[in-house]
Amino acid sequence: MPQRPLSVAVIGAGMAGRSHAAGYRQVDTVFGEGLPPVRLAAVADANEQLARDAARRYGFEKAVSSWEEVVEDRSIDAVSIVVGNSLHRPIAEAAIAAGKHVLCEKPLAGSLEDARAMVAAEERADVVTAVGYTYRRSPAIAAIRDHVRNRELGELTLFDGRYWCDYACDPRGPLTWRYRGGPGSGALGDIGAHVIDVGQFLCGPVVSVSGAVLTTHIAKRPLPLGAVVGHDAAPVGEEMGEVENEDTAVFSARFESGLSASFSVSRTAFGMPNGLAFDVHGLDGRASFDWHRPSEYLVDDRQPEARTRGARQVVVGPQMPYFAGGYPMQAPGVGGGNAEMFVYQCRAFLDQIVGTPDPLPPNATFADGLHTMQIVQAVVQSAQSGGAAIQIPAAIPTH
Ligand SMILES: NC(=O)c1ccc[n+]([C@@H]2O[C@H](COP(=O)([O-])OP(=O)(O)OC[C@H]3O[C@@H](n4cnc5c(N)ncnc54)[C@H](O)[C@@H]3O)[C@@H](O)[C@H]2O)c1
Repeated sequence: MPQRPLSVAVIGAGMAGRSHAAGYRQVDTVFGEGLPPVRLAAVADANEQLARDAARRYGFEKAVSSWEEVVEDRSIDAVSIVVGNSLHRPIAEAAIAAGKHVLCEKPLAGSLEDARAMVAAEERADVVTAVGYTYRRSPAIAAIRDHVRNRELGELTLFDGRYWCDYACDPRGPLTWRYRGGPGSGALGDIGAHVIDVGQFLCGPVVSVSGAVLTTHIAKRPLPLGAVVGHDAAPVGEEMGEVENEDTAVFSARFESGLSASFSVSRTAFGMPNGLAFDVHGLDGRASFDWHRPSEYLVDDRQPEARTRGARQVVVGPQMPYFAGGYPMQAPGVGGGNAEMFVYQCRAFLDQIVGTPDPLPPNATFADGLHTMQIVQAVVQSAQSGGAAIQIPAAIPTH
């Protein structure tokens, strides 16, 4: 008997919404069989032209201008929420109440209160929920996690994580939703949340933060004259508005294991288009990663011969998590990047829904997303109290 298709929709057709649409289109091409036919049902965006463009490019049946239409459509089983953060909660609550599975973009919500309400909604319902921490799907980062978990780096001594971008360097860049929402919702929530999640993915839960400093370098920005996608340099007028959140954030952190860490995050780091990078050091080794070279990482360990000591470059290939079965060309050194990670994330989400045994670990949960937001909030509190140490509520244990 033919299987009933699994119908998916994407809400938001901006920078990241297109990545979800492209991801669902390709879920059948990775990691073998196991999914029922996937029906690409709808793309929704308040800007109907964007919705139409994404639906056409990625083969979705229809484009609509209201997210409510998607939520009310009983034929749709699962949705991605890929709009500005303050809209995540109302859409997620409505979708969960309508019995739909939800993959929500990071950070989980526009406020801690919203994030808590979303976790409560998930706990009341029998649906799969997930958060879009895409970097967990990088073959190189997953391989480094294996080094850490196998204790090949020995006892960990330092994690240093950075996410340096330059999308806000231009003072004529338009005042979009990214610049609104108060301290913590700027660079820290937008990109810092990713590197915090990577740190926890590798090293376990963060339990406290201290020494935080938040800085806004460009206090006012021009209002856009029309729609803006992502970080695009869209036309702006003369009218200016206040930037409500931070351009840079630095802080220290301690993990549950006792490991100490430093984090720095900036959207005004010139010359860094998308610079997520980290070093993790132990008593017996270190590993280093820089997203500008996404298909490789450096690892160093106690090689027996002192004369051969030093970091070596590892190029990802079929021996790595995600690579086997995830790339059309099963050969080392063929590259890979951001787009593939969205495919793997969508695939893991749909596998979770249908219960397919999976080579991929499940996505971050809403509870994981709430914990990351609690860390972001603690960083804000630390900054507001002159750098005080702030404890984080315990993470709800997940996979
Ligand atoms: N995981 C990642 O790597 C990643 C990367 C970028 C963005 N994001 C996240 O994705 C989300 C969206 O970010 P973006 O950069 O794509 O933003 P964006 O501004 O490019 O796109 C947002 C879209 O939402 C639409 N929209 C606004 N109000 C709407 C409504 N009421 N109903 C339907 N559509 C509406 C806008 O028209 C716009 O097209 C954010 O939560 C962001 O943090 C994640």
